[in-house]
Amino acid sequence: MSKSPKVLVLAGSLRKGSTNKKLAKIAASSAIKAGADVTYIDLKDYPLPIYDGDIEDSEGLPQNAIKLKELMFQTDGFIFVSPEYNSSISAALKNMIDWTSRKATTEEVYLSCFIDKMALILSASPSPMGGLRGLVHLRSILENIFTFVLPKQKVIPDSWNAFDDKGNLSNPKDQKEVEGLAELLVKTIQKMKQ
Ligand SMILES: Cc1cc2nc3c(=O)[nH]c(=O)nc-3n(C[C@H](O)[C@H](O)[C@H](O)COP(=O)(O)O)c2cc1C
Repeated sequence: MSKSPKVLVLAGSLRKGSTNKKLAKIAASSAIKAGADVTYIDLKDYPLPIYDGDIEDSEGLPQNAIKLKELMFQTDGFIFVSPEYNSSISAALKNMIDWTSRKATTEEVYLSCFIDKMALILSASPSPMGGLRGLVHLRSILENIFTFVLPKQKVIPDSWNAFDDKGNLSNPKDQKEVEGLAELLVKTIQKMKQ
């Protein structure tokens, strides 16, 4: 494969100080180091109404859903970093998936911005489980819309104390593991596209 794999990275938290955004940025720079062409986005820059079939019927997809779908069409893989809310993924991430799973035009193939894409999933949470329960749901959602999710994943427990001033993980073992997983994603995409 001659071209660098394209990877879209985003966190499912909207807030400025988000620990999941910090983790997403580590994963994004690790994927760049591994040779990927990375686009990091903040979902806060793509506000969407809660999915409502009446809005879709009367107005079509919101402009931000169309913009997100365009980015997703161009990408080979995703790094989704999800906070755990009440044992599941955040509403912001689920809503983004719901809108982008819809067809923007009648010609579009259903779910085509997810099909055969490769994803790495990560989570940071202040709890000892690190958001593990949310990743069970995220894996299931993505696999049901035909995205390959890497069997390996990583959660960061005690997330409010897990990052240093530079935004890296204070525990070098955790930092290395995230870097290794981003590299694994890039290498797996390269193999899949051979
Ligand atoms: C509505 C809500 C529900 C939450 N539920 C959970 C939960 O089930 N498990 C957990 O580990 N943390 C839970 N938390 C705490 C979040 O993990 C914590 O706020 C985290 O910092 C959010 O991610 P962020 O730092 O990227 O914004 C919840 C937080 C909110 C606001």
